[in-house]
Amino acid sequence: MASTHGAHRILVASNRGPITYEVREDDSLHARRGGGGLVSGLSAIGPDAGALWVCSALGDGDREAVARGVGEDGVRMLAIDAEVHADAYNGIANSVLWFVHHMLYQTPLEPVFDAEFRRRWASYRTYNHAFAEALAEEAAEGASVLVQDYHLCLVPGMLRELRPDLRIGHFSHTPWAPEDYFRMLPDDIRAELLDGMLGADRVAFLTWRWATAFMRCAGETDPERYRVTSPSDTPPAVEHLDGAPPRRTLVGVHGLGADAEFLRERSHRADVEERMAALRAEIGEGRRTVVRVDRTELSKNIVRGLLAYRQLLDEHPEWRERVVHVAFAYPSRQDLAVYRDYTAEVQRVADEINSRYGTPDWTPVVLHVKDDFARSLAAYRLADVALVNPIRDGMNLVAKEVPVVSDEGCVLVLSREAGAYEELGEDAISVNPYDVIGTARALHEALTMQPGERAERTKRLAAAATALPPAQWFLDQLRELEG
Ligand code: F6P
Repeated sequence: MASTHGAHRILVASNRGPITYEVREDDSLHARRGGGGLVSGLSAIGPDAGALWVCSALGDGDREAVARGVGEDGVRMLAIDAEVHADAYNGIANSVLWFVHHMLYQTPLEPVFDAEFRRRWASYRTYNHAFAEALAEEAAEGASVLVQDYHLCLVPGMLRELRPDLRIGHFSHTPWAPEDYFRMLPDDIRAELLDGMLGADRVAFLTWRWATAFMRCAGETDPERYRVTSPSDTPPAVEHLDGAPPRRTLVGVHGLGADAEFLRERSHRADVEERMAALRAEIGEGRRTVVRVDRTELSKNIVRGLLAYRQLLDEHPEWRERVVHVAFAYPSRQDLAVYRDYTAEVQRVADEINSRYGTPDWTPVVLHVKDDFARSLAAYRLADVALVNPIRDGMNLVAKEVPVVSDEGCVLVLSREAGAYEELGEDAISVNPYDVIGTARALHEALTMQPGERAERTKRLAAAATALPPAQWFLDQLRELEG
Protein backbone atom coordinates (compact mmCIF):
# COMPACT_ATOMS: atom_id res chain seq x y z
CA MET A 1 0.00 0.00 0.00
CA ALA A 2 1.38 3.43 -0.91
CA SER A 3 2.42 5.55 2.06
CA THR A 4 0.08 8.44 2.80
CA HIS A 5 2.85 10.20 4.66
CA GLY A 6 4.36 13.49 3.56
CA ALA A 7 7.74 14.02 1.96
CA HIS A 8 9.66 16.10 4.49
CA ARG A 9 12.59 14.59 6.40
CA ILE A 10 13.19 17.56 8.73
CA LEU A 11 10.39 19.72 10.11
CA VAL A 12 10.43 22.74 12.36
CA ALA A 13 7.33 24.07 14.09
CA SER A 14 7.02 27.46 15.74
CA ASN A 15 4.31 30.03 16.29
CA ARG A 16 6.20 32.81 14.50
CA GLY A 17 7.57 31.78 11.14
CA PRO A 18 10.40 33.10 9.00
CA ILE A 19 8.17 35.30 6.85
CA THR A 20 5.26 37.72 7.29
CA TYR A 21 2.95 39.24 4.70
CA GLU A 22 1.40 42.65 4.49
CA VAL A 23 -1.44 43.73 2.19
CA ARG A 24 -0.39 46.91 0.39
CA GLU A 25 -2.73 49.71 -0.68
CA ASP A 26 -2.82 48.38 -4.25
CA ASP A 27 -3.98 45.04 -2.78
CA SER A 28 -0.65 43.33 -3.51
CA LEU A 29 1.01 41.17 -0.89
CA HIS A 30 4.41 42.20 0.36
CA ALA A 31 6.58 39.56 2.06
CA ARG A 32 9.11 40.39 4.78
CA ARG A 33 11.67 37.85 5.96
CA GLY A 34 12.63 37.67 9.62
CA GLY A 35 15.94 36.81 11.23
CA GLY A 36 16.92 34.97 14.38
CA GLY A 37 18.63 31.76 15.43
CA LEU A 38 16.20 29.37 13.79
CA VAL A 39 16.42 31.09 10.41
CA SER A 40 20.21 30.95 10.32
CA GLY A 41 20.20 27.49 11.90
CA LEU A 42 17.94 26.08 9.22
CA SER A 43 19.98 27.66 6.45
CA ALA A 44 22.87 25.44 7.62
CA ILE A 45 21.18 22.32 6.23
CA GLY A 46 20.70 23.89 2.80
CA PRO A 47 17.68 24.06 0.50
CA ASP A 48 17.99 20.44 -0.69
CA ALA A 49 17.50 18.85 2.71
CA GLY A 50 13.72 18.73 2.24
CA ALA A 51 13.02 20.76 5.35
CA LEU A 52 9.63 22.27 6.12
CA TRP A 53 8.86 25.06 8.59
CA VAL A 54 5.32 24.94 9.91
CA CYS A 55 4.20 28.21 11.50
CA SER A 56 1.08 30.17 12.27
CA ALA A 57 -0.48 32.99 10.27
CA LEU A 58 -0.17 35.91 12.67
CA GLY A 59 -1.82 38.94 11.11
CA ASP A 60 -4.33 39.81 8.39
CA GLY A 61 -1.58 39.83 5.75
CA ASP A 62 -0.54 36.29 6.62
CA ARG A 63 -4.16 35.11 6.53
CA GLU A 64 -4.65 36.74 3.18
CA ALA A 65 -1.51 35.03 1.86
CA VAL A 66 -2.88 31.66 2.97
CA ALA A 67 -6.29 32.44 1.42
CA ARG A 68 -4.66 33.42 -1.89
CA GLY A 69 -2.42 30.37 -1.84
CA VAL A 70 0.69 32.58 -1.74
CA GLY A 71 3.62 31.05 0.06
CA GLU A 72 7.27 30.14 0.02
CA ASP A 73 8.87 26.82 -0.64
CA GLY A 74 9.74 25.20 2.63
CA VAL A 75 7.18 27.11 4.69
CA ARG A 76 3.63 26.05 5.55
CA MET A 77 1.58 28.71 7.29
CA LEU A 78 -1.47 27.60 9.24
CA ALA A 79 -4.48 29.91 9.15
CA ILE A 80 -5.86 28.89 12.52
CA ASP A 81 -9.10 30.67 13.47
CA ALA A 82 -8.09 34.19 14.60
CA GLU A 83 -9.94 33.98 17.92
CA VAL A 84 -8.51 30.58 18.74
CA HIS A 85 -5.06 31.92 17.93
CA ALA A 86 -5.56 35.04 20.06
CA ASP A 87 -6.73 32.94 23.02
CA ALA A 88 -3.80 30.57 22.68
CA TYR A 89 -1.08 33.12 21.94
CA ASN A 90 -2.15 36.12 24.02
CA GLY A 91 -4.38 34.41 26.56
CA ILE A 92 -2.29 31.35 27.43
CA ALA A 93 1.23 31.47 25.95
CA ASN A 94 2.02 35.10 26.73
CA SER A 95 -0.26 35.73 29.72
CA VAL A 96 0.18 32.46 31.58
CA LEU A 97 3.13 30.35 30.43
CA TRP A 98 5.45 33.31 29.86
CA PHE A 99 4.47 34.68 33.27
CA VAL A 100 5.05 31.35 35.02
CA HIS A 101 8.46 30.71 33.50
CA HIS A 102 9.65 34.29 34.03
CA MET A 103 8.01 34.52 37.48
CA LEU A 104 6.16 37.73 36.65
CA TYR A 105 2.92 37.46 38.61
CA GLN A 106 2.00 39.94 41.33
CA THR A 107 0.73 37.03 43.39
CA PRO A 108 -1.65 38.74 45.88
CA LEU A 109 -4.04 39.24 42.96
CA GLU A 110 -2.89 36.95 40.18
CA PRO A 111 -3.00 34.44 38.61
CA VAL A 112 -6.69 33.56 38.76
CA PHE A 113 -7.48 30.28 37.05
CA ASP A 114 -11.19 30.68 36.39
CA ALA A 115 -13.70 29.69 33.71
CA GLU A 116 -12.21 32.21 31.28
CA PHE A 117 -8.82 30.60 31.72
CA ARG A 118 -10.36 27.17 30.98
CA ARG A 119 -11.99 28.53 27.83
CA ARG A 120 -8.64 29.86 26.62
CA TRP A 121 -6.92 26.64 27.52
CA ALA A 122 -9.34 24.79 25.24
CA SER A 123 -8.17 27.12 22.43
CA TYR A 124 -4.53 26.43 23.30
CA ARG A 125 -5.30 22.74 22.83
CA THR A 126 -7.05 23.34 19.50
CA TYR A 127 -4.17 25.49 18.30
CA ASN A 128 -1.58 22.88 19.30
CA HIS A 129 -3.66 20.20 17.64
CA ALA A 130 -3.69 22.11 14.36
CA PHE A 131 0.13 22.05 14.40
CA ALA A 132 0.25 18.37 15.28
CA GLU A 133 -2.09 17.52 12.40
CA ALA A 134 -0.15 19.58 9.88
CA LEU A 135 3.15 18.02 10.98
CA ALA A 136 1.65 14.53 10.85
CA GLU A 137 0.49 15.17 7.31
CA GLU A 138 3.79 16.61 6.05
CA ALA A 139 6.37 14.37 7.70
CA ALA A 140 8.00 11.48 5.86
CA GLU A 141 8.28 8.09 7.60
CA GLY A 142 10.74 8.41 10.50
CA ALA A 143 11.31 12.14 9.93
CA SER A 144 12.71 14.47 12.62
CA VAL A 145 10.46 17.18 13.98
CA LEU A 146 11.80 20.08 16.03
CA VAL A 147 8.99 21.79 17.95
CA GLN A 148 9.77 25.22 19.39
CA ASP A 149 8.80 26.93 22.59
CA TYR A 150 6.04 27.43 25.11
CA HIS A 151 3.40 28.09 22.47
CA LEU A 152 3.57 24.48 21.36
CA CYS A 153 4.03 22.45 24.54
CA LEU A 154 1.22 20.03 23.72
CA VAL A 155 2.37 19.28 20.18
CA PRO A 156 4.88 16.50 20.93
CA GLY A 157 2.30 14.36 22.79
CA MET A 158 -0.41 14.98 20.19
CA LEU A 159 1.97 14.27 17.32
CA ARG A 160 3.21 11.04 18.88
CA GLU A 161 -0.39 9.81 19.01
CA LEU A 162 -0.80 10.56 15.32
CA ARG A 163 2.65 9.45 14.14
CA PRO A 164 4.57 7.19 16.52
CA ASP A 165 7.22 6.65 13.83
CA LEU A 166 8.60 10.22 14.06
CA ARG A 167 11.58 11.48 16.05
CA ILE A 168 10.21 14.42 18.02
CA GLY A 169 12.21 17.11 19.80
CA HIS A 170 10.98 20.08 21.80
CA PHE A 171 13.13 23.14 22.46
CA SER A 172 12.34 25.81 25.09
CA HIS A 173 13.72 29.27 24.37
CA THR A 174 12.55 30.56 27.74
CA PRO A 175 13.60 29.77 31.29
CA TRP A 176 11.72 26.99 33.05
CA ALA A 177 9.95 27.82 36.32
CA PRO A 178 11.17 26.51 39.68
CA GLU A 179 8.83 23.78 40.93
CA ASP A 180 7.17 25.93 43.63
CA TYR A 181 6.23 28.50 41.02
CA PHE A 182 5.16 25.89 38.46
CA ARG A 183 2.90 24.42 41.12
CA MET A 184 0.70 27.53 40.87
CA LEU A 185 -0.83 26.05 37.72
CA PRO A 186 -3.87 23.83 38.29
CA ASP A 187 -2.75 20.22 38.77
CA ASP A 188 -4.41 18.88 35.63
CA ILE A 189 -2.90 21.69 33.53
CA ARG A 190 0.59 20.99 34.89
CA ALA A 191 0.14 17.34 34.06
CA GLU A 192 -1.15 18.11 30.58
CA LEU A 193 1.79 20.41 29.86
CA LEU A 194 4.29 17.81 30.99
CA ASP A 195 2.53 14.98 29.16
CA GLY A 196 2.61 17.15 26.05
CA MET A 197 6.31 17.92 26.24
CA LEU A 198 7.25 14.42 27.34
CA GLY A 199 5.60 13.10 24.20
CA ALA A 200 8.95 14.15 22.69
CA ASP A 201 11.94 11.82 22.38
CA ARG A 202 14.08 14.68 23.58
CA VAL A 203 13.41 18.01 25.26
CA ALA A 204 16.11 20.67 25.27
CA PHE A 205 16.81 24.00 26.91
CA LEU A 206 19.23 26.90 26.61
CA THR A 207 21.01 26.22 29.91
CA TRP A 208 21.30 23.48 32.53
CA ARG A 209 19.58 25.72 35.02
CA TRP A 210 16.35 25.58 32.99
CA ALA A 211 16.77 21.90 32.13
CA THR A 212 17.20 20.97 35.78
CA ALA A 213 14.15 23.01 36.77
CA PHE A 214 12.13 21.14 34.14
CA MET A 215 13.29 17.79 35.49
CA ARG A 216 12.33 18.77 39.03
CA CYS A 217 8.83 19.74 37.87
CA ALA A 218 8.49 16.52 35.89
CA GLY A 219 9.66 14.46 38.86
CA GLU A 220 7.20 15.92 41.32
CA THR A 221 4.10 16.47 39.19
CA ASP A 222 3.33 12.81 38.56
CA PRO A 223 5.79 10.46 40.30
CA GLU A 224 3.60 7.46 39.41
CA ARG A 225 4.20 8.09 35.74
CA TYR A 226 7.53 9.83 35.46
CA ARG A 227 10.86 9.09 37.09
CA VAL A 228 13.70 11.51 36.56
CA THR A 229 17.22 10.15 36.33
CA SER A 230 19.96 12.06 38.08
CA PRO A 231 20.88 15.31 36.29
CA SER A 232 24.48 14.05 36.33
CA ASP A 233 23.58 10.98 34.19
CA THR A 234 24.66 11.38 30.60
CA PRO A 235 22.29 12.17 29.15
CA PRO A 236 19.74 12.80 31.88
CA ALA A 237 16.26 11.56 31.06
CA VAL A 238 12.68 11.34 32.20
CA GLU A 239 11.60 7.69 32.29
CA HIS A 240 7.98 6.89 31.49
CA LEU A 241 6.80 4.32 34.03
CA ASP A 242 3.44 3.54 32.47
CA GLY A 243 4.37 2.95 28.87
CA ALA A 244 4.69 -0.32 27.06
CA PRO A 245 7.25 -0.58 25.63
CA PRO A 246 9.07 1.58 28.22
CA ARG A 247 10.15 4.91 26.89
CA ARG A 248 12.51 7.68 27.94
CA THR A 249 12.55 11.35 27.06
CA LEU A 250 16.12 12.57 26.97
CA VAL A 251 16.92 16.01 28.37
CA GLY A 252 19.58 18.15 26.71
CA VAL A 253 21.03 21.64 26.59
CA HIS A 254 22.06 23.74 23.59
CA GLY A 255 23.16 27.29 24.32
CA LEU A 256 22.47 29.55 21.38
CA GLY A 257 25.34 31.87 20.47
CA ALA A 258 25.65 35.02 18.39
CA ASP A 259 26.13 34.81 14.64
CA ALA A 260 29.53 36.53 14.45
CA GLU A 261 29.96 36.47 10.69
CA PHE A 262 26.55 37.98 10.01
CA LEU A 263 26.83 40.60 12.76
CA ARG A 264 30.30 41.79 11.80
CA GLU A 265 29.36 42.20 8.16
CA ARG A 266 25.94 43.73 8.80
CA SER A 267 27.18 46.21 11.39
CA HIS A 268 29.60 47.84 8.94
CA ARG A 269 27.11 48.68 6.24
CA ALA A 270 26.34 52.27 5.30
CA ASP A 271 22.97 52.43 7.08
CA VAL A 272 24.64 51.55 10.39
CA GLU A 273 27.33 54.22 9.87
CA GLU A 274 24.54 56.75 9.22
CA ARG A 275 22.74 55.75 12.44
CA MET A 276 26.01 56.08 14.36
CA ALA A 277 26.42 59.66 13.21
CA ALA A 278 22.82 60.46 14.19
CA LEU A 279 23.24 58.82 17.60
CA ARG A 280 26.51 60.65 18.26
CA ALA A 281 24.71 63.91 17.59
CA GLU A 282 21.96 62.97 20.05
CA ILE A 283 24.46 61.88 22.71
CA GLY A 284 26.78 64.87 22.41
CA GLU A 285 30.54 65.21 22.15
CA GLY A 286 32.79 63.26 24.52
CA ARG A 287 30.06 61.61 26.60
CA ARG A 288 30.01 58.01 27.80
CA THR A 289 27.10 55.75 26.93
CA VAL A 290 25.15 53.12 28.81
CA VAL A 291 23.27 51.24 26.09
CA ARG A 292 20.37 48.83 26.33
CA VAL A 293 18.42 47.25 23.47
CA ASP A 294 15.35 45.20 24.25
CA ARG A 295 11.93 44.27 23.12
CA THR A 296 9.65 45.84 25.73
CA GLU A 297 8.87 42.59 27.49
CA LEU A 298 7.94 42.63 31.15
CA SER A 299 10.89 40.35 31.91
CA LYS A 300 13.49 42.75 30.50
CA ASN A 301 13.42 45.02 33.56
CA ILE A 302 13.81 48.26 31.64
CA VAL A 303 12.15 50.36 34.36
CA ARG A 304 14.55 49.20 37.10
CA GLY A 305 17.40 49.85 34.64
CA LEU A 306 16.22 53.46 34.41
CA LEU A 307 15.86 53.69 38.18
CA ALA A 308 19.44 52.43 38.59
CA TYR A 309 20.64 55.04 36.13
CA ARG A 310 18.75 57.72 38.10
CA GLN A 311 20.42 56.42 41.27
CA LEU A 312 23.81 56.72 39.56
CA LEU A 313 23.14 60.37 38.71
CA ASP A 314 21.99 60.98 42.29
CA GLU A 315 24.89 59.29 43.96
CA HIS A 316 27.60 60.35 41.54
CA PRO A 317 26.86 63.90 40.42
CA GLU A 318 30.20 63.83 38.59
CA TRP A 319 28.49 61.77 35.87
CA ARG A 320 25.90 64.43 35.13
CA GLU A 321 26.43 65.88 31.65
CA ARG A 322 29.09 63.20 31.08
CA VAL A 323 26.99 60.11 30.42
CA VAL A 324 23.88 59.25 28.39
CA HIS A 325 21.62 56.24 28.82
CA VAL A 326 20.70 55.13 25.29
CA ALA A 327 17.66 52.91 25.74
CA PHE A 328 15.93 51.18 22.85
CA ALA A 329 12.68 49.61 23.98
CA TYR A 330 11.00 48.14 20.93
CA PRO A 331 7.32 47.22 20.88
CA SER A 332 6.33 43.68 21.75
CA ARG A 333 2.96 41.94 22.22
CA GLN A 334 1.03 45.18 22.14
CA ASP A 335 -2.31 43.35 22.10
CA LEU A 336 -1.85 42.85 25.82
CA ALA A 337 -2.77 45.79 28.08
CA VAL A 338 -0.09 44.88 30.62
CA TYR A 339 2.59 45.24 27.91
CA ARG A 340 1.16 48.58 26.78
CA ASP A 341 1.12 49.82 30.38
CA TYR A 342 4.70 48.72 30.88
CA THR A 343 5.79 50.57 27.73
CA ALA A 344 4.06 53.71 29.06
CA GLU A 345 5.86 53.33 32.39
CA VAL A 346 9.23 53.09 30.61
CA GLN A 347 8.43 56.33 28.80
CA ARG A 348 7.23 58.01 32.01
CA VAL A 349 10.35 57.18 34.03
CA ALA A 350 12.64 58.23 31.16
CA ASP A 351 10.78 61.57 30.89
CA GLU A 352 10.97 62.04 34.62
CA ILE A 353 14.76 61.56 34.62
CA ASN A 354 15.14 63.92 31.67
CA SER A 355 13.10 66.65 33.29
CA ARG A 356 14.79 66.26 36.66
CA TYR A 357 18.41 66.26 35.43
CA GLY A 358 18.41 67.36 31.79
CA THR A 359 20.07 70.63 30.75
CA PRO A 360 19.71 72.59 27.53
CA ASP A 361 22.76 70.76 26.24
CA TRP A 362 22.28 67.28 27.75
CA THR A 363 19.48 64.72 27.53
CA PRO A 364 20.30 62.09 30.16
CA VAL A 365 18.08 59.36 28.60
CA VAL A 366 17.78 58.94 24.85
CA LEU A 367 14.83 56.59 24.47
CA HIS A 368 13.72 55.13 21.14
CA VAL A 369 10.69 52.90 20.85
CA LYS A 370 10.55 52.28 17.11
CA ASP A 371 12.28 49.08 16.03
CA ASP A 372 15.34 49.78 13.87
CA PHE A 373 17.90 46.99 13.56
CA ALA A 374 20.57 49.20 11.93
CA ARG A 375 20.26 51.66 14.83
CA SER A 376 20.59 48.82 17.35
CA LEU A 377 23.84 47.74 15.70
CA ALA A 378 25.04 51.35 15.72
CA ALA A 379 24.38 51.54 19.46
CA TYR A 380 26.18 48.22 20.00
CA ARG A 381 29.23 49.58 18.20
CA LEU A 382 29.55 52.75 20.22
CA ALA A 383 28.43 51.50 23.64
CA ASP A 384 30.81 52.00 26.57
CA VAL A 385 28.57 49.98 28.84
CA ALA A 386 25.81 47.53 27.89
CA LEU A 387 23.07 47.09 30.47
CA VAL A 388 21.38 43.69 30.28
CA ASN A 389 19.45 43.29 33.54
CA PRO A 390 16.45 40.99 32.90
CA ILE A 391 14.41 39.64 35.79
CA ARG A 392 14.81 36.28 34.09
CA ASP A 393 15.71 35.37 30.54
CA GLY A 394 16.13 32.11 28.61
CA MET A 395 19.44 33.32 27.14
CA ASN A 396 19.52 37.00 26.06
CA LEU A 397 21.25 37.46 22.75
CA VAL A 398 21.91 41.19 23.20
CA ALA A 399 24.46 40.28 25.90
CA LYS A 400 26.20 38.12 23.30
CA GLU A 401 25.91 40.45 20.33
CA VAL A 402 27.31 43.64 21.87
CA PRO A 403 30.84 42.31 22.58
CA VAL A 404 31.04 40.90 19.05
CA VAL A 405 30.17 44.20 17.40
CA SER A 406 31.69 46.72 19.83
CA ASP A 407 34.25 49.04 18.20
CA GLU A 408 36.36 49.87 21.24
CA GLY A 409 35.32 47.38 23.87
CA CYS A 410 32.24 47.54 26.03
CA VAL A 411 31.69 46.58 29.66
CA LEU A 412 28.77 44.20 30.10
CA VAL A 413 26.57 44.70 33.16
CA LEU A 414 24.66 41.44 33.24
CA SER A 415 21.84 40.04 35.33
CA ARG A 416 22.71 36.79 37.04
CA GLU A 417 19.19 35.63 36.11
CA ALA A 418 19.88 35.64 32.35
CA GLY A 419 20.75 32.33 30.71
CA ALA A 420 23.74 34.06 29.08
CA TYR A 421 25.20 34.52 32.55
CA GLU A 422 26.31 30.86 32.59
CA GLU A 423 28.62 31.54 29.66
CA LEU A 424 29.49 35.22 30.14
CA GLY A 425 29.28 35.77 33.90
CA GLU A 426 33.02 35.67 34.53
CA ASP A 427 33.84 38.64 32.31
CA ALA A 428 30.73 40.69 33.02
CA ILE A 429 29.84 42.77 36.05
CA SER A 430 26.96 40.83 37.52
CA VAL A 431 23.82 42.31 39.05
CA ASN A 432 20.81 41.19 41.02
CA PRO A 433 18.10 42.60 38.72
CA TYR A 434 15.88 43.73 41.61
CA ASP A 435 18.67 45.62 43.38
CA VAL A 436 18.59 49.11 41.92
CA ILE A 437 21.35 50.43 44.18
CA GLY A 438 23.56 47.45 43.37
CA THR A 439 22.90 48.01 39.67
CA ALA A 440 23.81 51.72 40.01
CA ARG A 441 27.06 50.64 41.68
CA ALA A 442 27.73 48.21 38.82
CA LEU A 443 27.13 50.98 36.27
CA HIS A 444 29.63 53.20 38.07
CA GLU A 445 32.19 50.40 38.16
CA ALA A 446 31.61 49.73 34.48
CA LEU A 447 31.96 53.39 33.51
CA THR A 448 35.24 53.70 35.39
CA MET A 449 36.86 50.47 34.16
CA GLN A 450 40.27 51.02 32.59
CA PRO A 451 40.30 50.75 28.77
CA GLY A 452 42.86 47.91 28.82
CA GLU A 453 40.78 45.70 31.07
CA ARG A 454 37.62 46.59 29.23
CA ALA A 455 39.16 45.56 25.89
CA GLU A 456 40.50 42.30 27.31
CA ARG A 457 37.14 41.39 28.82
CA THR A 458 35.32 42.26 25.60
CA LYS A 459 37.61 39.95 23.66
CA ARG A 460 36.89 37.06 26.01
CA LEU A 461 33.17 37.84 26.03
CA ALA A 462 33.08 37.84 22.22
CA ALA A 463 34.85 34.46 22.12
CA ALA A 464 32.39 32.94 24.60
CA ALA A 465 29.42 34.55 22.87
CA THR A 466 30.23 33.07 19.48
CA ALA A 467 31.25 29.59 20.64
CA LEU A 468 27.89 28.12 19.61
CA PRO A 469 26.79 29.77 16.36
CA PRO A 470 23.15 29.22 15.31
CA ALA A 471 24.09 26.71 12.61
CA GLN A 472 25.84 24.49 15.12
CA TRP A 473 23.04 24.97 17.64
CA PHE A 474 20.58 23.65 15.09
CA LEU A 475 22.71 20.81 13.69
CA ASP A 476 23.60 19.58 17.19
CA GLN A 477 19.92 19.28 18.08
CA LEU A 478 19.18 17.41 14.92
CA ARG A 479 22.09 15.03 15.41
CA GLU A 480 21.12 14.29 19.01
CA LEU A 481 17.53 13.69 18.02
CA GLU A 482 18.43 11.39 15.16
CA GLY A 483 21.01 9.77 17.50
O1 F6P B 1 12.78 35.26 23.48
C1 F6P B 1 12.13 34.08 23.78
C2 F6P B 1 11.10 33.74 22.76
O2 F6P B 1 10.39 32.65 23.22
C3 F6P B 1 11.65 33.42 21.39
O3 F6P B 1 12.03 32.12 21.23
C4 F6P B 1 10.49 33.72 20.52
O4 F6P B 1 10.92 34.01 19.24
C5 F6P B 1 9.88 34.89 21.21
O5 F6P B 1 10.18 34.78 22.57
C6 F6P B 1 8.41 34.95 20.97
O6 F6P B 1 8.08 36.26 20.77
P1 F6P B 1 6.81 36.76 19.98
O7 F6P B 1 5.70 36.72 20.96
O8 F6P B 1 7.10 38.15 19.54
O9 F6P B 1 6.63 35.86 18.82
